[in-house]
Amino acid sequence: MSTMTLEGLNLDLTEEHLAVQQAARDFAQTELLPGVIERDDKEFFPEELVRKMGDLGFLGMMVSPEYGGGGMDTVSYVLAMEELSKVDASASVIVSVNNSLVCYGIEHYGSEEQKQKYLVPLATGQMVGAFALSEPEAGSDATSQHTTAEDMGDYYLLNGTKNWITNGGRAGVYLVMAQTHPELGHRGINCLIVEKGMEGFQIGKKEQKLGIRGSDTHSLMFTDVKVPKENRIGTDGFGFKFAMSTLNGGRIGIAAQALGIASGAYELAVKYSKERKSFGKPICEHQAIQFKLSDMATSIEAARLLCFKAALDKDNHRDYVKSAAMAKLFCSQVAMDTTIEAVQVHGGYGFVKEFHVERLMRDAKITQIYEGTSEIQKMVIAREILR
Ligand code: CAA
Repeated sequence: MSTMTLEGLNLDLTEEHLAVQQAARDFAQTELLPGVIERDDKEFFPEELVRKMGDLGFLGMMVSPEYGGGGMDTVSYVLAMEELSKVDASASVIVSVNNSLVCYGIEHYGSEEQKQKYLVPLATGQMVGAFALSEPEAGSDATSQHTTAEDMGDYYLLNGTKNWITNGGRAGVYLVMAQTHPELGHRGINCLIVEKGMEGFQIGKKEQKLGIRGSDTHSLMFTDVKVPKENRIGTDGFGFKFAMSTLNGGRIGIAAQALGIASGAYELAVKYSKERKSFGKPICEHQAIQFKLSDMATSIEAARLLCFKAALDKDNHRDYVKSAAMAKLFCSQVAMDTTIEAVQVHGGYGFVKEFHVERLMRDAKITQIYEGTSEIQKMVIAREILR
């Protein structure tokens, strides 16, 4: 194992880690960058690029090779997510949801039949998946599921609505949380694997969003959808625990996305500050700009360390609930702060699309909302501290 220093800290990155990072960087620069402004503008889902990401193995990076995945660790995943997100957070959220929510959920908690049927096509990029927990009246308060899965013997009758579902209109399979035993509260919730095209399953309206506009976000409607019993993940009532356990890893993916958005904006700000002149010299020679760049660089470095700490905790089978929540909380704040400052460094150019930083600023906001708001991360951290 060769070591690479992260500004002086040995992180023991292997040759494989560096190769994954380089592959993601190359893909982001050559494939994602050229059309990113237009995709954002037109809210265009990058079908062709998703196929290419599947071919390159980004959609099932951490899945075991036995099921068609790359068998990589979480550190590799973070490295790839950062590189993709520097350029296109709409593309990287597809990678994140598919890897850390859908594939991870099925691989770790699904049956062998479910893995063969669903995980293999998901990991190889033949289709993408979606994770359906949020509802019109259950976002942060995820235990209050109104969607019901009535036990009908050999199938569940699924009824209800899900909101803000990433990959909502494009997924082949959906992991849907629904209440089976209301009297048991969160212990009565199940996770069902629902296939696109099942009778009674309708894709609802596409959301028009502030950021990550190239990703596909929809509501979903279920009306008397018959979901076979064998599509339930885990034992009866395991659905909420499933969702929470899966989201812990998802939060590392979103932390890495936020880190990428921040470092992408920072790199653009440094470059611009060397090129742009004011008052007779490049603006990077003004202390006002230097202070901004120093603050950005310092917070990004701290964010990166928290992100890798969470990834290493997961890879080394240590409890990562707290470190994942801390990484997401901090990285998303850094993404927001850094992108706002990057726009400021660019001045008027920062306010127009072709300089990219305004998009990164808009994209940053969602990292403080999805997979648990910043307030939820603080709740999770506090519970772990006080437990
Ligand atoms: N890991 C594992 N288990 C957890 C957990 C965690 N992080 N958090 C809670 N649990 C378990 C608890 O141990 C408990 O289980 P037991 O009863 O067996 O002990 C059970 O879940 C219920 O926990 P609480 O009593 O603490 O539940 P609560 O209602 O007080 O609050 C919450 C839980 C932390 C607030 C939770 O509802 C939550 O995380 N909400 C945010 C939901 C969220 O992240 N949604 C994101 C949607 S997905 C998405 O955004 C994907 C996308 O499109 C990109």
